Amino acid sequence: MSLRARVVALIAAVLAISMAMGTVVAGYEARQALNGELAAGLGGARQTVASAFEDLPHSDHPARDLRQLIATFDGNRHVRASLLDAEGRPVLISHTRAPDHPAPPWFARLLGAMPPEAEIAVPGSAAGFRAIVLAPTAGIDVSAAWREFISIVAVLSGSAALGLVLVYLVISAAFRPLRALAGQFARVGAGDYSGRVAERGPTELFGLQRGFNRMAAELAATTERNRLLGDQLLTIQEEERADIARDLHDDIGPHLFAVNMDAEMIAQLGDLGRHEAVPEHVRAIQAAVAHMQRQVRDLLSRLRPARMTELGLNAAICDFVRFWSQRRPDIAFRLNLLEDECRLPEAAKDVVYRVVQEAANNAVRHGDPHTIEIAFTLDAQQTLTVSVADDGVGRAAPSAVGGFGLVGMGERVAAAGGTLSFGPDPDGGWTTTARLSLDSASMTQAAA
Ligand SMILES: Nc1ncnc2c1ncn2[C@@H]1O[C@H](COP(=O)(O)OP(=O)(O)OP(=O)(O)O)[C@@H](O)[C@H]1O
Ligand SMILES: [Mg+2]
Repeated sequence: MSLRARVVALIAAVLAISMAMGTVVAGYEARQALNGELAAGLGGARQTVASAFEDLPHSDHPARDLRQLIATFDGNRHVRASLLDAEGRPVLISHTRAPDHPAPPWFARLLGAMPPEAEIAVPGSAAGFRAIVLAPTAGIDVSAAWREFISIVAVLSGSAALGLVLVYLVISAAFRPLRALAGQFARVGAGDYSGRVAERGPTELFGLQRGFNRMAAELAATTERNRLLGDQLLTIQEEERADIARDLHDDIGPHLFAVNMDAEMIAQLGDLGRHEAVPEHVRAIQAAVAHMQRQVRDLLSRLRPARMTELGLNAAICDFVRFWSQRRPDIAFRLNLLEDECRLPEAAKDVVYRVVQEAANNAVRHGDPHTIEIAFTLDAQQTLTVSVADDGVGRAAPSAVGGFGLVGMGERVAAAGGTLSFGPDPDGGWTTTARLSLDSASMTQAAA
């Protein structure tokens, strides 16, 4: 059952209960009033009869007086008077007006028991009459009460129905934004983050709508960023493979060829018996092999920056610095690393290495610096500060592609419960700083 139907049903039930209670109270009061009226009518009638009976013994025409007495009750709406003969048979009954629209018997019963009939003996059984019976009659009052009851019920039912229709319309209008919100949530659940809801309506909904729109926008931005990061990762992988293929082709290929040539020469010299020339070719082969070994080691260190896990953070950073120093001898690297890196959790080492790697790569790529300084400090509160500062151009023009390095660094550091700051320095150059609390719970989570 929908919330709207529940609310409407609840209000309908409350209205029905209050109508029923109102009817019971009104019925009870009508019953009391009717009984009072009948009792009063009967009392008045008794008095009329009693005072007539006082004069009866002095009357010359008691029979006529008794008939006239009965006739005085004609049209009385509360009492019907009957004159009984000596045998107790009614010989004359006053006329009571029958109601035009009598009430149903159940309604008359509901209004309560009538006061009992009163039989008043004719004094001295004058003119052969025994008694006058006064019977309460409530037909007209009950019919009037019935009409009133019907009109009250009609008015109450009409206004309740109208009220329900209004409540239904108001609730439908109030729930419309909720339905829109539910629809958009379903779309988000299905992976479509493009939908937004209009931010209007009651205050409670307004906050919900604004929160939803922000959440959807954030999800859309994160998804887009992930997609771009994924694309970039693929591009980087392809570039790296092409780079390695080029290195293998340009560095290893010629040396293998040279080794092959030297080996052939040694064979020919052996056939010709010119053994004195052999050592020179052997040395050439050894030099080529040594060169190839160095190339292979370089390749391996590029393919497996995870040497850190084998050699430790400081060694991995030194390795990385050596890689750039060979290619950019014009840049001086200054290292100020932690002496006791064992105090760093493994998860922190990984984050730190990636920060140093990306920040130093950025410095080389964008800053054109003379010096790059990599410094670690660990304070008494166990906060590790890692800074990579260069004395290059400061803010360089953003590269046409990419632009994910800083974002990625920020995400890594945030995931480890730390903060990252970066930007050009006031006197030139650029500094990237990461702060990590080694006690933080996120560090444990990041490690998990
Ligand atoms: N050391 C620096 N010196 C000068 N500019 C820098 C430095 N570090 C970052 N920048 C500027 O910040 C921009 C964003 O850097 P970011 O690392 O996010 O992207 P990128 O290096 O251009 O590309 P990639 O996604 O490959 O890292 C750079 O394009 C550059 O303009
Ligand atoms: Mg970068």
